Formats: sequence, structure tokens, C-alpha cells
Amino acid sequence: MEQSLPYDNRIDSESSEQVVNPWEVSAKDGGKIDYDKLIDKFGCKRLEESLIDRVERLTGRQPHKFLRRGVFFAHRDFNEILDAYESGERFYLYTGRGPSSEALHLGHLIPFMFTKYLQEAFKVPLVIQLTDDEKFMWKNLTVEESERLARENARDIIACGFDVTKTFIFSDFDHVGGAFYKNMVKVSKCVTLNKAKGIFGFSGEDHIGKLSFPAVQAAPSFPSSFPHLFPGMDKLRCLIPCAIDQDPYFRMTRDVAPRLGYSKPALIESSFFPALQGENGKMSASDPNSAIYVTDTAKDIKNKINKAKSGGHQFSVDQRELGADLEKDIPFKYLSVFLENDSELELVRKEYGEKKGSMDSGNVKKRVTEVLTEIVERHRRARAAVTDEMVEAFMAVRPLPSMFE
Ligand code: TRP
Repeated sequence: MEQSLPYDNRIDSESSEQVVNPWEVSAKDGGKIDYDKLIDKFGCKRLEESLIDRVERLTGRQPHKFLRRGVFFAHRDFNEILDAYESGERFYLYTGRGPSSEALHLGHLIPFMFTKYLQEAFKVPLVIQLTDDEKFMWKNLTVEESERLARENARDIIACGFDVTKTFIFSDFDHVGGAFYKNMVKVSKCVTLNKAKGIFGFSGEDHIGKLSFPAVQAAPSFPSSFPHLFPGMDKLRCLIPCAIDQDPYFRMTRDVAPRLGYSKPALIESSFFPALQGENGKMSASDPNSAIYVTDTAKDIKNKINKAKSGGHQFSVDQRELGADLEKDIPFKYLSVFLENDSELELVRKEYGEKKGSMDSGNVKKRVTEVLTEIVERHRRARAAVTDEMVEAFMAVRPLPSMFE
């Protein structure tokens, strides 16, 4: 049985418990996010090793490092997607971004890098929703500014390397209407105010725009919202890669899907990319010192990493005697997300984290600075090569005839 929506965000915000919802991520009393507790509370499942092995077998390639390293760590019905794929059925991918800032940080890129891998490995189409409407309603942005940010963010997303013959990017301001809108109202009619309060923590003080938004994020989970892409393919399954803070939207979506005669979207969910200051929250677009941006220079990155929270020891005698506390070490954490080479990572884990090792925090910071600088510079070059015409091409309402090839 699916766990039925037990999560009340308001109760959590008022106590000292950790809070994780689409608008706020904070750990209990400055500690770390407790992901086991989150899985329990949300009612999703841990991504078992056996599922990752299955991905390897089905795609014939090494699973993405975000799978190997547990960055994507939870799921709902991902096993069913793999069953269907194995028996020759196809699926589509759906992900999105709320355009709340001009420049993206590394944490924002994680779901897109991973989605690109899924698209390539499984050879499936992808829809990307830009929720300009959401950010207008939640942030202090005008409609025009949200629209502009959506297009700017589309450039960063395209720079992640998506295949234009398999990818449709749309903004809500442009695309809500027609078949998409019909699915929105069908979803809305299935969710009572009480239920929305329970899932999202809305209160009587919230404006009604907020109440109406979850149906907008739900609609792309159903293939019939995209008649130009999936005509007559109402049974096509949907897989949503996202950070786990988006889970409430899709808990609601999965709850209503059967009542509309649709299949429930499956999810594959990531943990948060920790802030430079430590793991009690996620990198935040509204705090420039908490994050590394794709617009940062090599020098910015070096300075930020040097100031990041370390689990190493200040004196080299202690470092050699005790080894670093890797759990607290943000540079090591970043390395374990972004370094491609498994054996090099293992070496750092031993030489830095264990007793009598040969590495100190300076070595690790230097290495992670190199790795991140390379990623950021590659991204910057790719983004500069994205023309207005390419943005138009990705956002054009059009069929994608070779989307499963
Ligand atoms: N609400 C998300 C955000 O603020 C954007 C989003 C829309 C999304 N649809 C999605 C994210 C599907 C992941 C998957 O960033």
C-alpha cells in the first residue's frame, strides 16, 4: 500500500524537527538532514544496489556516478519502470526547474546532468518544465522577470547536453492551456483543500495562486498533456528524476493518477548538494556564499573551497594520527559527487580519512578545486555556444519523430 500523505509541514516548522518541502530544506538543530527518516516519512523507497545493477545490465553501460555514489538514493516504482523497459515497453522522462535566479549553482546542475545520462542510456524522450508561474507566485518577481529567467535558465539546461531530437523544454506561461490545462483541472478536482494543507502546509493566509500551482507541476506526469509528443500513447509511463524536496508534488500526483485512469509517475530522487558551510541544508540560490555558481571564476572557486567546512585536523600530527572526519568534510563530499574516477576517490578516502594517511585537507581542497573548475569552465563554454535559435528549437511545440531511437 502506498503510504497516504502523512506529512504535515506546518507541524514540523513549529517544532525543532527537520523541514523538507519544496520551499524549505533545513536539518534539525543545525545537524544533518536525516535521509532515512525522510524516506520513512515520505513513504518512498531506498534505491537498492540490486536496482543499480539492473540499470547496468539493461543499459549495457556503467551506471552514472550519481548512482554509484548514492546521490540519487530513493525512488518510487523505479523497479516497475525497469520491468516495463525490460519487456520492451518505453517510457518518458519529466523534470523541471523553477527559474528563481539568473545563475545556477552546482546543486542545480545535478538533476539535469543525471537526466541527460538517463536520456542517453535508455534512449527516451524528455520534457522539461520551467515553472515561471511558480516563482512569480512564491518569490518577489514580476511576471516579465520570471519569464526572462526561464529563458536564461533554459540556456544552462541546454548546455548540459540534451538531445534536441528527444527533448521538449516549455515554460508554464507559454504552454498551460489545451490538453495540459484539461489535465490540470482533472487533478485539481481530486484534491481537497484539507489534503493540500496536509501535503504542502498551506494555511488560510496563503494566496490562492499557491493552492492552484501543484496541479501545474502534476500535469506533465501524464502523457496526454503533450498531444504533439505522445498522441494515442496514454499508457506511456513517466519517470521523474528530481531532488527529494519535490516529493510532495508527486505524492499528490500519484495519489490522484488512478482516479483519472492514468498510471502513477515513477520517481528517482536525489539528496541535496550540501552548502559550503556544512550539511544542514542545501546550496541556496539566495545565499551567494553557500554555493558555487556556474558563473564563478577559477579564483572564486578556489577561495570558496578554501573557506569550506573541513573535517580535517589543523595540525599535521593530529591529521596523521586520527584521519579526517569525512562525514563533516565538505570538500571531500563535493569530490565524492563530482570526481569521475572511482579508484582515485577510494585512494583519497583512505589517505585522507584513515589514520596514518598521506593527505591533508589542503590536498583535498586543491583536487576538488581542479575538478569543479573544470566542470564550471566546461559549462560556461557550452552555455556560450547556445544560440537563441537553439533555445527556440528546444522550446518549439513539435513532434519528436525519433524520440525512442
Ligand atoms: N518546482 C521545481 C523547482 O522549484 C520545478 C519543477 C517543476 C520540477 N516540475 C518538476 C523539478 C519536475 C523536478 C521535477 O525547482
